Amino acid sequence: MLIQPAAKYRAFPPVHLPDRQWPNRTVTSPPIWCSVDLRDGNQALAVPMNVSQKLEMFDALVRCGFKEIEVGFPAASNTEFRFLRHLIEDNRIPDDVTVQVLVQAREDLIERTVESLVGAKRAIIHLYNSTSPAQRRIVFGLDKPEILKIATRGTQWVKDRAPRLAGTDLRFEYSPESFSATEVEFALEICEAVADVWQPTPERRIIFNLPDTVEVAMPNVYADQVEWFMRNLRRRDCALISLHTHNDRGTGTAATEMGMLAGADRVEGTLFGNGERTGNLDIVTVALNLYMNGIHPGLDFSDLNHLREVYERCTGMTVPPRQPYAGELVFTAFSGSHQDAIRKGLHAWETLLEQKDGGIWDIPYLTIDPRDVGREYREVIRVNSQSGKGGVAYLLESEYGIELPKELQREFGPIANDEVDRLGREVSGAELKTMFWREYVDRTYPWQLAGFRTESRNDVVKCKARLLRDGKPIEVSGQGNGPIAAFVNALTKDGSPRFEVASYSEHSLSSGEGASAICYIQIRLADGPSRWGVGVDTNIELASIKAVLSALNRV
Ligand code: KIV
Ligand code: ZN
Repeated sequence: MLIQPAAKYRAFPPVHLPDRQWPNRTVTSPPIWCSVDLRDGNQALAVPMNVSQKLEMFDALVRCGFKEIEVGFPAASNTEFRFLRHLIEDNRIPDDVTVQVLVQAREDLIERTVESLVGAKRAIIHLYNSTSPAQRRIVFGLDKPEILKIATRGTQWVKDRAPRLAGTDLRFEYSPESFSATEVEFALEICEAVADVWQPTPERRIIFNLPDTVEVAMPNVYADQVEWFMRNLRRRDCALISLHTHNDRGTGTAATEMGMLAGADRVEGTLFGNGERTGNLDIVTVALNLYMNGIHPGLDFSDLNHLREVYERCTGMTVPPRQPYAGELVFTAFSGSHQDAIRKGLHAWETLLEQKDGGIWDIPYLTIDPRDVGREYREVIRVNSQSGKGGVAYLLESEYGIELPKELQREFGPIANDEVDRLGREVSGAELKTMFWREYVDRTYPWQLAGFRTESRNDVVKCKARLLRDGKPIEVSGQGNGPIAAFVNALTKDGSPRFEVASYSEHSLSSGEGASAICYIQIRLADGPSRWGVGVDTNIELASIKAVLSALNRV
């Protein structure tokens, strides 16, 4: 990298807009969404989608609720042309969905584009040409009037052919490509000139799409450009202002959201941000950002996992694990303190729902309820060496119904953590259960239960137990005010270390363990330390006796 980057790079000049209004506004309703997956997204793929992949993607977009879908660049290739004809001739386009097609300002391409649309119920022809100084100078070698002429001539060619689409509800979109890198005055001049040709009305508005083709500045600069454009546009009531951001500086979402504050009516983007270079705007993110503010976006992402599968199959791209809302890890916490807060938050939420029908979501670390987008709580907490007792306890409880007492969590947490650290990877709930069983339930040395009987008279319980001690059979007997007390009495008479039961709890286990009960017992030894033991049995009395031996075996 250069020591003096200013020798090679300079900041993009901001727009002079001292009385900008957008920072004081809030967004209160969703924009009109237009998916450009099948065009901008598709053109950025190493292997573009074939017709059947495009069809699958089109159907998925329709199911999400998109009413405007840019389906391609039909004059660019046979696949693109055939795909659109297929949609129209096979009646695949719902009546309330408008297909949009992109075309450059060339007469032969416009001719072919119009041909591709014959029979469509609703269509938008989207014309574009590049307007920025670099494009004018380097790519086209044309001055401003010549660039303006390309746009107006192209608009006229479309207008001349509109009667050929008499049965189609036809609209027109114009993009000054590289809008954000173009002088705002020139972008406005060219759009006004296009409007003069097209002659839009408040009933038939022209769409001015303002592409942030390559992000050249911070998102507030784009918002200023959009606000400036809208405030200076002569016939604002005859136009819909559309945003089309890319993500070169990683701020495509912010630029779109600020552009919405600036008053734009419409947003173009793709699922999960597929598109040229760093991608287009990720519509899922902006839509769900609205949702988390309590505004329904008008798009349905209730099954985000399935949508991600369709997307990955059709595009061959993968959604990164940390992609907002859709990434595999975004509703997951590994860190112990995060897990603890989430676990408490989810508990509080469940308690709230038991008391009343709903409430306002305010759970630490979770912006939305994962279930609203078809994700599961089970994914929320995952355990690796960064995790604490809370995560371990959560997985054991949510996957196996094992409700560890708080103090046992404190004992087992570090034991599990050492093991996970040794493995050096994430562990599953099943692996944690195995560790737990190995540490507590399957401990049968030096003490093992072979048989246990009780009889009670006048509130006194007498017990006889057959045990293996260091593998040798012995029999012990004792008495107390209950089976556990009687057993403790029997053991301590017979040479085990002296101890008392400090705490006890039990519950039945869910399906996996048949009709078993699990019992947790903490013993305190006469010389101070305490240990937990756990027993599992279909008989609750035997589960508790096994728990006592498990604790003794861990001394
Ligand atoms: O990014 C862009 O400028 C485009 C235009 C063709 C709208 O995709
Ligand atoms: Zn684009």
